This record gives sequence, C-alpha cells and structure tokens, in this order.
Amino acid sequence: MTRNELLTPLTTPGEQPEEVSLRPRRLAEFVGQAQLRQHLEILLEAARRRGEPADHLLLAGPPGLGKTSLAGIVAAEMGVTLRVTSGPALERAGDLASVLTNLDEGDVLFIDEIHRLPRVVEEVLYPAMEDFQLDIVLGKGPSARSLRLDLPRFTLVGATTRTGLITGPLRDRFGFVARLDYYGVEELEAIVVRAARIMGVALDPAGGHEVARRARGTPRIANRLLRRVRDYAEVRADGIVTEAAARDGLALFEVDEAGLDKVDRAILNAVCRRFAGGPVGLSTLAICVGEEPETVEDVYEPYLLQLGLLQRTPRGRVATPAAWAHVGLQPPATGLPPAGLFGDALT
Ligand SMILES: Nc1ncnc2c1ncn2[C@@H]1O[C@H](COP(=O)(O)OP(=O)(O)OP(=O)(O)O)[C@@H](O)[C@H]1O
Ligand SMILES: [Mg+2]
Repeated sequence: MTRNELLTPLTTPGEQPEEVSLRPRRLAEFVGQAQLRQHLEILLEAARRRGEPADHLLLAGPPGLGKTSLAGIVAAEMGVTLRVTSGPALERAGDLASVLTNLDEGDVLFIDEIHRLPRVVEEVLYPAMEDFQLDIVLGKGPSARSLRLDLPRFTLVGATTRTGLITGPLRDRFGFVARLDYYGVEELEAIVVRAARIMGVALDPAGGHEVARRARGTPRIANRLLRRVRDYAEVRADGIVTEAAARDGLALFEVDEAGLDKVDRAILNAVCRRFAGGPVGLSTLAICVGEEPETVEDVYEPYLLQLGLLQRTPRGRVATPAAWAHVGLQPPATGLPPAGLFGDALT
C-alpha cells in the first residue's frame, strides 16, 4: 500500500458528506462531555505554552459519540496537521513505519480502531510513542542489522470502541485515556439545534426535544434522525420539524419511544421470547438477530445496558423486568419463562 492509501480523509466509509460538515471543528463547538472537554482544554493549553506536542491520547467509547471529531479538534486547537489512518489499514510494520517517517514535527496522527492494529505493528508503535524513535530491521538472517531512526515529535490520538480491547503495554503509553459517555437529552438537544442551523432546517424546540430524546444518547444518531424527520416534514407537512412531525416521522422510521430501533428491539425480543429472558450467550444472540457478535457488543448492547434493559452475567445476557415490559410481556414471576414459551425456549 502506498502512503496515500494508508492515510485517509477524516471520514469513515458510509459517512455522508453532510455528517462531515456537521462535525464540530473546535473545542468550543463540541457539545457535552463537559469534564472531558475541561481536561482536554488544560492538556492542550499546557502543551501549547510549553511549545511541545500534546501527550498521546486514547479515546474510548461507543460509535458516534465524537472520537473522530475530537481527533480533528486536537489538531485544530494545536494548529497542526491531522493525519488519519486506522488499525486495519496498517497491516505490516512497514506500513506504520512509512506513516511515521512522513509525519512533520508536532503533527497529530489519528489511528482509528487502534485495537485492530496487528501485534507486530503495535510493537513498532511502542518506541515511537515513548521516545519518538523507529527501529528498523534491515536484511534477514545473520546479516540483519537494526537501525534506529529519529522521528519528529508527534501526538498520537487513538480511538477504540472499548478500552478493554487495548493491550496493557499500548494503553500504558498513552498520557491520557478518555472515556466518552452517552450524551444527556439536553446536550443532544443542543447538538440537534446546531445541526438544524447548519443544515437550514426549521426546527421547533419541542421537535428538537423529541429527536434528542430518541437518539440513543448518540450525536451521530441525533443528526441522522434529524435528517429523517426533516424529510418527513418536507413531504408530509409544511417542512417545519414540530413535535408532531418528529413523532410521526420517527414512528415511520421505526424508532420507538425509547429511541430503540429494529435491531435493538430484535435483541430484546430474542432474549425475552426465544430464550425466556436468558441467560443467552453473545454469539447465539447475534445469530438470532443477524448481526456480528462484535456489532451487538459494541453498537447495540451498551445502550441497552445503560437503559437497564439488559444485564450481563457470566452465563450470558439476561432481560430485566423493564425489557419484558418494553416488548409488551409480563416478566416471569418465578424467574421461569411464561407459560407457552417453554417449547420455544427448549428448541
Ligand atoms: N460533542 C459533539 N457535538 C456536536 N456534534 C457531535 C459531537 N460528537 C459527535 N457529533 C456529531 O456526530 C458525528 C459522529 O461523530 P464522530 O464521527 O466523531 O464519532 P466517533 O466516535 O468517531 O464514531 P465511530 O466510533 O463510529 O468512528 C459527527 O459528524 C458530528 O456531527
Ligand atoms: Mg470515528
């Protein structure tokens, strides 16, 4: 792969150009995550005063909470260039070496999905992060020589959906590990209002509230839902996203009262109806809903856990009484499945 293929623009596949324009560019535009923002402000300001690149930074959290946006913000606030690559794109040690040797002093290198970095590549990263040095082995066998190269000082920003997926040695080399949490409704409201302004959508405060409330705590989903209800309001109403337009539009796109989508509901239905409330293993559950186990674990499950609909136990996923209520069933009083579900559960 050439260096240009290893470095990608700041978009993920499947991300619309519109989403890119909605990305906050500066820390002041970044809504929510107040504590994290404050930490970053201090970290970046201190680095600027010292005239040094900022410490390496690991961002962890479910998809769509702003990790990629924050990487761009770190570069913008430091007034340096952002270079973007990802764990799976760096297949061989040489791939990373070529990215690193092409950095300029102070650059921010963003490695998305850093937990998917192959181990041999990860090992090249250790001395680069710690001492800004690159160890290269030239030749093979007895005549092999190793060479140490000085690298420009840079800031590594890594993103991962779960810190648990990062090896200890890699994690320890980050000066700052930040966890992004799901956003509150008020924060999402602010994000929706900002997006509506950028997109030129007429949005009622009550309409904004309705979209924010159902966005699964996730800015990317809030923006996506806003686009859907905008479409709905344009076609079926007068183009203004009112509370009624938001509610009807979201119902049409099968986003329910709690903001759960079809897959979320399929998961709850599978646990309650097919497995009598669980426990059910992750891979079995994933097959039932037709998704990859990683997708269920990283994308769907965290929010269901957060809402208290699912529980993780050593034996598998278990539905809570709230989950039973959500799928419109009575939870089994004795911990046994309701009558009529035995047959299904045992097959
Ligand atoms: N704090 C925020 N304020 C305003 N908009 C935000 C914020 N966080 C995210 N967004 C919006 O959500 C979109 C998705 O954010 P981003 O791509 O940074 O998420 P991510 O954590 O990198 O997701 P993934 O794990 O899928 O790569 C952005 O384009 C932006 O429009
Ligand atoms: Mg991202």
